[in-house]
Amino acid sequence: MSSDPNRLTPDHTDSTFLAACRGEPHHHTPVWFMRQAGRSLPEYRAVRGTGSILDAVADPDRAATITLQPVHRYGVDAAILFSDIMVPVQALGFGVDIRQGVGPVVDRPFESAADLERLRPFEPDVDAPYVAETVRQVVAASPVPVIGFAGAPFTVASYLVEGMPSRALERTRAFMNGDPALFDALLDRLADVAIASLRSQIEAGASAVQLFDTWAGALDPQAYRQVVLPHSRRILAALAELGVPRIHFGADTGPILHLMAAAGPEVVGVDWRTPLDEARRLLGPDAVLQGNLDPAICLEAPEVVDAAVADVLARNGDHPGHVFNLGHGVLPNTDPGVLAHIVELVQAHRPSRDGTP
Ligand code: CP3
Repeated sequence: MSSDPNRLTPDHTDSTFLAACRGEPHHHTPVWFMRQAGRSLPEYRAVRGTGSILDAVADPDRAATITLQPVHRYGVDAAILFSDIMVPVQALGFGVDIRQGVGPVVDRPFESAADLERLRPFEPDVDAPYVAETVRQVVAASPVPVIGFAGAPFTVASYLVEGMPSRALERTRAFMNGDPALFDALLDRLADVAIASLRSQIEAGASAVQLFDTWAGALDPQAYRQVVLPHSRRILAALAELGVPRIHFGADTGPILHLMAAAGPEVVGVDWRTPLDEARRLLGPDAVLQGNLDPAICLEAPEVVDAAVADVLARNGDHPGHVFNLGHGVLPNTDPGVLAHIVELVQAHRPSRDGTP
């Protein structure tokens, strides 16, 4: 079954999730949820502990347990590693904390060329060995493929520059325009960090990777193309030889979706603001898409949820290249019962071109 004899565990090549990522016919529409492991699950709150989530991430037993919780509860078609996009820079000693209900906070934000020295090359085995160890544990125990991930340079840089979550990223955009050379050097270092991190997760057994550029939608297309795209393209290209599907996602990306696709992922994550049929009009009929139910719909009555799920599936139009997901992460006050119901609905859906007898 495994195409790589060095793999100790099945590589899930024939799973519905990986087939959909390749745009190939498969049994049912696969589904997983961004932030499926998290505060909406009582079993997560029970094992997470009271400290920073970074403590839970640094404990492979706990992180592996949390990763698998939504797989067991919902029967989703993929597991996503329990970690955070800020883990590598925190492990490099940049001074990052993740405050509950707030997000990443940086003690001494990135301000000048001297701060580049605080971003030495990332060596996953030395700086954050617990991440690969968690991947290995999850891969050994998971019935479904495991997705590794990293933050894309622009989104991670935005936290390092702002120092705390910010709506419009004014400091980041001012920095980008005021000192383009230094901003480019910062993104370049962060691209190296992402490549090292993703490579190590794939070597530990991850079957796919997702590059999160959550806040790239804060940029206009020209700035995105000039400043951000070359770095995201370099990251994705560096992973090509490893042969796993690469997913690229950002929020509020309608005007730059075609440019995110041009970075070279197999799968384009679509946020809830761009309907899937419109995304395929923009990207071409063969585009493989992931998404994109509005997470806020999950707070609504069952008939509203059912209609919205049916709408997402209809807009995909039975294209085999569709991985069902939310259009951004699960909201903390989501009822897990609603997500379980969505999984049932989606997995009962058989794309008409699915090739099964
Ligand atoms: O289930 C999963 O999706 C896997 C785990 C995961 C986490 N963070 C755990 C987490 C993943 C894939 C991430 C990625 C991440 N982290 C992104 C990109 C994805 C996205 O949502 O756009 C971003 C922007 C971050 C930075 C970050 N970390 C934010 C904005 C927050 C929210 C702060 C809050 O408390 O509302 C976090 C914290 C975080 N990361 C939580 C989890 C489960 C919740 C906090 C907790 O349990 O303390």
